Amino acid sequence: MSTTNVGDSLGVVLTINGKRHMLEVEPRRSLSDVIREDVGLTGTHLGCEHGVCGACTVLVDGQPARSCLMLAVQADETEITTIEGLADGDELHPIQQAMHESHGFQCGFCTPGFLMSTVALLSENPQPNRSEIRAELSGNLCRCTGYQSIVDGVETAVSLLNEAQGNQP
Ligand code: FES
Ligand code: FES
Repeated sequence: MSTTNVGDSLGVVLTINGKRHMLEVEPRRSLSDVIREDVGLTGTHLGCEHGVCGACTVLVDGQPARSCLMLAVQADETEITTIEGLADGDELHPIQQAMHESHGFQCGFCTPGFLMSTVALLSENPQPNRSEIRAELSGNLCRCTGYQSIVDGVETAVSLLNEAQGNQP
């Protein structure tokens, strides 16, 4: 029977933004650290590292996850989307475009987490009202904006996505 010593690495396969990565990681390492340090995608930000601020939010098999609280080995064989996976080349994702138009960020530290949480929100509920947006994003913290412009940005994103799909508001 094999044993795992402290410092031993395990093989994990992470598909991140459509690209498959075969990695050797220590079982103690968080998904956020592996995404940032091993894969080099530093758009996923780390604030509290305790599951409180939401800055590290990514999608794991389509569901929002706090990557600071998840071990990389727990994400083995999953499909992960990070902030780098939203834009299509030089073309911003409608949610990025909406946040830009609504001035939904200042320093931008919280922005990747808000955007990934918004992607998850709108895939579950494409027409949220303002109070639903506030409730769904209440787990993401921002030190700068006062939140009004972020909620405005999500409402703008709903409009842009409806326009793109040819729906009336
Ligand atoms: S860094 Fe993960 S929730 Fe704050
Ligand atoms: S824009 Fe600065 S923390 Fe949110």
